Amino acid sequence: KRREEAKGVVLIDKGDAKKTKIYALPELVGSKVRIQGWVHRLRAQKTNYFLIVRDGTAMVQVVLSGDCIRTLDALDLTVESTVEITGTVDKVKEGQTAPGGVEVIVDWWKIIGRAPGGDEAFEGRLRPDTEASIRADLRHLELRGETATAVMRFRAIMLRAFRDRFHARRVTEVTPPCMVQTSVEGGSTLFEFDYYGAKAYLTQSSQLYLETVLPSLGDVYCIQESFRAEKSLTRRHLSEYTHLEAELVFITFQDLLDHIEGLICEVVDVLLADPIASIIIKTLNPDFVPPSRPFMRLDYRDAIKYLNEHGITKEDGTDHVIGDDIAEAAERKMTDQINRPIMLMHFPKILKSFYMKSLDEAPDFTESVDVLVPGVGEVVGGSMRISDLQELMAGYKRDGIPPEPYYWFTDQRKYGTTEHGGYGLGVERFLAWFLKRYTVRECSLYPRWMGRATP
Ligand code: 4AD
Repeated sequence: KRREEAKGVVLIDKGDAKKTKIYALPELVGSKVRIQGWVHRLRAQKTNYFLIVRDGTAMVQVVLSGDCIRTLDALDLTVESTVEITGTVDKVKEGQTAPGGVEVIVDWWKIIGRAPGGDEAFEGRLRPDTEASIRADLRHLELRGETATAVMRFRAIMLRAFRDRFHARRVTEVTPPCMVQTSVEGGSTLFEFDYYGAKAYLTQSSQLYLETVLPSLGDVYCIQESFRAEKSLTRRHLSEYTHLEAELVFITFQDLLDHIEGLICEVVDVLLADPIASIIIKTLNPDFVPPSRPFMRLDYRDAIKYLNEHGITKEDGTDHVIGDDIAEAAERKMTDQINRPIMLMHFPKILKSFYMKSLDEAPDFTESVDVLVPGVGEVVGGSMRISDLQELMAGYKRDGIPPEPYYWFTDQRKYGTTEHGGYGLGVERFLAWFLKRYTVRECSLYPRWMGRATP
């Protein structure tokens, strides 16, 4: 019994019915169980009611008949009501299908909380044609739907896989602050707020903080919210997103590329082998093909050539020239044409932040990399960092950044500097690629974008 309890199967005995979570029912065929959950679907026939009940761990078919449907509660039953049910677990009959291959034949049940019917009925509030802004207002209800639930469950399994792969590589997790007084990726996307009378910002990236603990913890990572005051509405920009960032010490640019590629491929493999995640991939993105290694490696200057040779112009219709930022639309067009992950490398220095290391052979370009994937574009941005103190001071100056607030970052170059590099992966973008979602908004629990911070 204790072993069953450890597995979470049997929580309490009440009479001879075991209180259990729905996921465990297939192991309990023939047993009397007590379950609680929400009515996900309801089909009322004359002699039987068939319910699909979910409790957050799984769904199960529940069959009510006889006295069980001759009650006021049965007349009143609505979708999304919470119910408590006692019954016997049975295998579904030959030729029939139901979640988990079992059903619960009910001998006692009650409504815990009745959801409204009529005008306020759950089914009427979110329909396929519901307008996008109403849908966003009703995110709390949408999260009960099968697609949103699958995406959120997959997200949890994916984060666990990343943590597991970091652990295997001896990369230590830290939790840097979200309230900061320095910027990492330029002032234009900073959210500023009043911090006891002083100026502070919501963090854009935890990179600088990760760099400070390399001397104590070695390779580190964090999974932390980042904030960007993006002033445009695109399908891949959020104002708050989950940023998975890592910083690795005593490495070369080549090591950094191999690490990013290896980590992504391992996480994909783990998820394809996971019993729940693999079903979600099959349901939401049945054509998913795991990326093959090595990823295509494309120099920025060759990418500019590619764009011009393939007629992919800038927004104003002109050709790209060296030094141009490759805009979202052009980047996606190129990635979709190539149709496999690309490591786009060596961006011009003028496009990048103060901390990026130059290429030895071409100092106007950097040891930087973006990973681009079909359907989304950039999912990872990373680079080697300047390790030389004087070069860093010149970097502040070039970007017009006063060095004083960065004293703690500068100190890293004074007290035992070393080559190091790292990257940031946008969790929602990675999910949008993996599960073929049209927008990153579907991949965040409560997405925030320009003008939206509710619910
Ligand atoms: O390329 P970014 O701006 O890089 C950095 O912040 C580095 N300091 C990270 C590092 O090296 N530690 O952002 C990294 C990734 C992008 O590739 C993208 O996936 C995601 O963060 N990202 C966003 N995701 C959703 N909404 C936004 N507004 C995003 N901005 C960046």
